Amino acid sequence: MNLQQIMELDSQYYMNTFGKRTPVAFVKGEGMYLYDTEGEKYTDLLAGIAVSALGHSHKTLKKALHEQVDSLLHTSSLYYIENQAKLAEQIVKHSVGDKVFFANSGAEANEGAVKLAKIYFYKKGQPEKSEIITLENSFHGRTLACVAATGQPKYQKPYKPLTPGFSHVPANDFDALKNAVTDKTAAIMLELVQGESGVRPLEQEYVQQVVDLCKEKDILLIVDEIQTGMGRTGKLFCYENFGIEPDIFTMAKALGGGVPIGAVCAKAEVAAGFEPGDHGTTFGGNPLATAAGLAVFKAFEEEKLVENSATVGGYFKEKLEELMKKFPVICQVRGLGLMLGVAFSEPIAKIVQGKLFDKKYLAGAVGDSILRIAPPLIIQKETVDAFITDLTEILENL
Ligand SMILES: Cc1ncc(COP(=O)(O)O)c(C=O)c1O
Repeated sequence: MNLQQIMELDSQYYMNTFGKRTPVAFVKGEGMYLYDTEGEKYTDLLAGIAVSALGHSHKTLKKALHEQVDSLLHTSSLYYIENQAKLAEQIVKHSVGDKVFFANSGAEANEGAVKLAKIYFYKKGQPEKSEIITLENSFHGRTLACVAATGQPKYQKPYKPLTPGFSHVPANDFDALKNAVTDKTAAIMLELVQGESGVRPLEQEYVQQVVDLCKEKDILLIVDEIQTGMGRTGKLFCYENFGIEPDIFTMAKALGGGVPIGAVCAKAEVAAGFEPGDHGTTFGGNPLATAAGLAVFKAFEEEKLVENSATVGGYFKEKLEELMKKFPVICQVRGLGLMLGVAFSEPIAKIVQGKLFDKKYLAGAVGDSILRIAPPLIIQKETVDAFITDLTEILENL
């Protein structure tokens, strides 16, 4: 099918939740590049919204998936699954967590985390401790509980009454958080770098204060690593950048390299809150999805991709900061590793994104003023250089 035919079919049959999409459909991917229906080649600097950490058609991931498809796709968790156990082992060995539960998406992983926090206190004989505090401008997903957790009214308005038990405080305002805590607070849930609202890292001091408050008041700290996890911020998990240990953290996006999978990971004592029958899933952690996760860990190790995220991410940020000196319309460059945001003082992000698209780059725009960059973790400095040259030209001609 050509693009026009796909667009017509989509508009007739697909629910219009995504609005006017970028008019392109990709049919092939290789490394940093995507190819559309017309054979045009694009450099992917968004990685399917921070998912395709290995780039496209990565040999390790492809091989693992082919082998798994040839042997077994699904059995359900009524039976033991080797890949599931092995992937849980990988996550635990590389993190501060002790036990893992697999879901199918980020939102579902967050649902699991919230349920785990609640049941942990319920089983400790403190069922009143059931409320969760999150931050304004956070994004935690689209299920009903996650919409309630998300601190952005635009996602909540049509879905009232919201799931009860969630409240929101401004980011980096410790007094506001302290005042919001009550005897009913079970958990504080944070994105250490707020992704969907424009790549906004939390302040180190604030995060440490939150950790201390959680300890003092017997509150669980949940870190949503769905976007920041799996190498995106230059460490395997973003909490490492802050030198902290969450009680529960969630991941998804890059964990499967493009195959849907999510995970909740928790300290042993907290994880013990889930006993047989307390939580479940049909698909979560099935042989195919967990084969993908194992291949992602293998490629990370073989190709030192977390280190690459730190090195090339740092280089990318430096280059963007140089541009900032040259073009005052760039007012801030934010982010960690390969999770970067370029903030403009004028509402030009979508224009710049469109001009980048004309030059065959895929980048994101958050609102009108933030350009978002989250490339595959395989990106090399040469690609950064080429992008900076093209972005310079765009800004010169604006
Ligand atoms: C921080 C964070 N949490 C949760 C989600 C929801 O993940 P999913 O879309 O896989 O449900 C996202 C997605 O963008 C996210 O960035």
